Amino acid sequence: MTDPVTYDVAIAGGTVVNADGRQECDVLVADGRIAALRAPGQPFAPGVQVLDATGCFVLPGGIDVHTHFDTVFEGAPTADDFLSGGRCAAAGGTTTHIDMCFQEPGGSLAEAAETWHAKAAGRAVCDYGLHLVVTDPRPEVIREIPDRVAEGYTSFKVFTTYDGIGLEDEGIYDVMRACAETGAMPFVHGENRALVGRRTAELLAAGKTAPRWHPHARPVEAEAEAVSRVIALARAAGAQLYIAHVTCRESLAHIARAQAELAPVHAETCAHYLAFTDDVFDEDGVGPARFICSPPIRGAEDQRALWDALRTGVLSVVSSDHGPLHLADRLRLGGEDFSRIPNGAASAEHLRELLWTDGVAAGALSAERFVAVTSAEPARLFGLDRKGAIAIGMDADVVVWDPARRVEVEAERCLSQLDYCTFEGRTFVGGAAATLRRGELLWDGERAVAAPGTGEFVARSAARQA
Ligand code: URP
Ligand code: ZN
Repeated sequence: MTDPVTYDVAIAGGTVVNADGRQECDVLVADGRIAALRAPGQPFAPGVQVLDATGCFVLPGGIDVHTHFDTVFEGAPTADDFLSGGRCAAAGGTTTHIDMCFQEPGGSLAEAAETWHAKAAGRAVCDYGLHLVVTDPRPEVIREIPDRVAEGYTSFKVFTTYDGIGLEDEGIYDVMRACAETGAMPFVHGENRALVGRRTAELLAAGKTAPRWHPHARPVEAEAEAVSRVIALARAAGAQLYIAHVTCRESLAHIARAQAELAPVHAETCAHYLAFTDDVFDEDGVGPARFICSPPIRGAEDQRALWDALRTGVLSVVSSDHGPLHLADRLRLGGEDFSRIPNGAASAEHLRELLWTDGVAAGALSAERFVAVTSAEPARLFGLDRKGAIAIGMDADVVVWDPARRVEVEAERCLSQLDYCTFEGRTFVGGAAATLRRGELLWDGERAVAAPGTGEFVARSAARQA
């Protein structure tokens, strides 16, 4: 009997790993979706493009829920846009990202979304969603939220810090109430603005202005206080909650306590907090300016706690917070004054390689948990209903992951347009030998091959809580 489905692509001979288990099977793709999972060793019809995954894992495409592509942050333009950022994500095995789409003060959320779609048009290679960042929570903006949720913008970011974009508790609560009513997810950057301001002033007054002082201005207390406060606000508002870039034990304790009380509180950390400790700030001079991001990179004990929390489920996601700001811009704008150096991280390209090398290959995470925190949980929490698993009917976002692949990081060979690479000199073991998005090859193991503009906006669903 002839098979009625005509397959376009087959990924053959690998071990498929999902968050809930693994199996030896071939993955067959038709019209951009996974059409069949078939016992290995069977022949393919002529015309099917066959990718040999022998000796490799076959993983769902990574989902990076925290990116800043084509943005200006604290006066500096991000080095990557939807094309270069998407290409570097794809080279690292990521096929979907959710970008931070900033409301202009005085503007609406609808206008912000329009602006961001224009950035993606003709450039995106990964599929993308948008978190709408509320910077000016006027009543009419809060009233807009249900319409935006209906259009598939089902998460709303708020900052507790940064001049010009940080909100007071009233505004944060209003956004959370609107999220509670619509099933959307509030996504919060938590740091206590007043404490950061006072600490910064003290350091500058004492002549401690070099980049190495940045983490001293943003102590764990600033993060943990804001995390505790936004958990309280979300619980009072009846909203679920997602906490951005958690870095320290104090924040984890607040999150774990809320979760133990069955509050729907979720949290991420980022690749750079798992990769580096605060000894990157030991150097005098401007070198540490490369590592200035917020919250800051912490000490070894906090880093160990982050790995534990990933294993135990207190943390659900690893994202990149990819907002790469050139060293030249950091020095031009801030130089020897850490408080004027714009904040940004650059982890999209190496996120999965780092997590595999220091997590799976080091025996700290299972391959299934790796898939959970880089794909399945991001999809579940942010309503990407056709992504995050290799299963029939899902988008064919598939990565052939070669556990023996060695990646020796050199900035010049990275796809990011940034003028340095945070991971320079690291060797990763395990990487993407091929990355497909909806069945189309984005990365062939050597080159980014996707046509600009083929990434599509994904309207997301709302209403998960647990
Ligand atoms: O340092 C950071 N993280 N910059 C980007 C803005 C943010 O906080 O996400
Ligand atoms: Zn961010």
